[in-house]
Amino acid sequence: MSTGAPRAIIVGTGSALPSRILSNADLEKLVDTSDEWIASRTGIRERRIAAESEAMSDFATRAAEAALESAGVAATEVDLLICATVTPDMPIPSTACIIQHRLGAVRAAAFDLAAGCSGFLYGLAVAERFVTMPQYRHVLLIGAEVLSKYVDWSDRATCILFGDGAGAVVLRAGDAPYGVLATTLRADGSLADYIMVPAGGTREPASAKTLEERRHFIKMKGNETFKMAVRSMEETSRDALALAGLTTADINLFIPHQANRRIIDAVGSRLGLRDDQVYINIERVGNTAAASIPIALDEAARAGLIKRGDVVLFTAFGTGLTWGSAVCRWGV
Ligand code: ACO
Repeated sequence: MSTGAPRAIIVGTGSALPSRILSNADLEKLVDTSDEWIASRTGIRERRIAAESEAMSDFATRAAEAALESAGVAATEVDLLICATVTPDMPIPSTACIIQHRLGAVRAAAFDLAAGCSGFLYGLAVAERFVTMPQYRHVLLIGAEVLSKYVDWSDRATCILFGDGAGAVVLRAGDAPYGVLATTLRADGSLADYIMVPAGGTREPASAKTLEERRHFIKMKGNETFKMAVRSMEETSRDALALAGLTTADINLFIPHQANRRIIDAVGSRLGLRDDQVYINIERVGNTAAASIPIALDEAARAGLIKRGDVVLFTAFGTGLTWGSAVCRWGV
């Protein structure tokens, strides 16, 4: 029975990871680090890394195909394709258009969305608006990254953190009480230098000098980012729940961005959640930025951890800085 305006319902999920595994033991051979340091400081044991010949759209396309199959929706039925990423195949054109062609989603409008690790939640907020308009019946939202190609493999502070992969969801309009109940998004550009790839854009175009100075790689102020992440994710999670008319007691499953196990534990504990209410896969996949939440969501959904009517809380924090949260009532 309908109880008001249509809502955006996630009707299918999919994910794809590279086959190559890079363990902490492998990293010990590259930089001055140890399995003990990485596991205790981040919770990461291994991550998946793209082959030299693989690009972001390879994983994004596979994740999208899996999501479409699980939704029972043909590529030709997709009206809008959004790819959340900060690691496109190339600067021009958008990778969303490349994926649209590879899927055969001939009717779909397509664009990339850059909001770092918060990209999937920014994308969800946009997709939610579109899919409740009659002309956008199916929206395909992908979060996909190949961060390994932006990582400085001689910088132990960052190279241990990141992994590659993609996750995707298909959204369709449906009736309350199911669907996306609330989203909260934030940004603070004054802290843009916390996580940045300084060169390769129009500010510092690629040159022999920028290459020599290794300015095409990710630079991060990890410790500052860490402190702000915990505070911010708790705050927007509470805001999103309040907007949805819910409290932390209503949460069935919490799926946070997988940046650091200690961040996840701190946010979960501040929200008063038990360990079994928090989905964690960081030990296997590392930080996959915009792909992190949809990969975790797909794993949780396929493992049967989410049932119809469950309240799922998502939260993320990343470069920009950007952060945000979303609350959904699972509708399939
Ligand atoms: N192995 C061993 N030692 C290391 C390593 C390593 N891989 N990396 C750093 N260290 C050393 C440092 O040099 C430092 O040594 P010192 O005390 O002698 O100077 C010491 O360990 C502590 O370094 P910190 O940076 O203070 O370590 P911290 O506990 O903060 O952990 C980490 C670092 C894991 C990066 C953490 O700060 C973090 O996870 N930050 C958040 C990252 C994040 O959320 N990013 C957002 C998303 S990214 C995106 O949007 C693309």
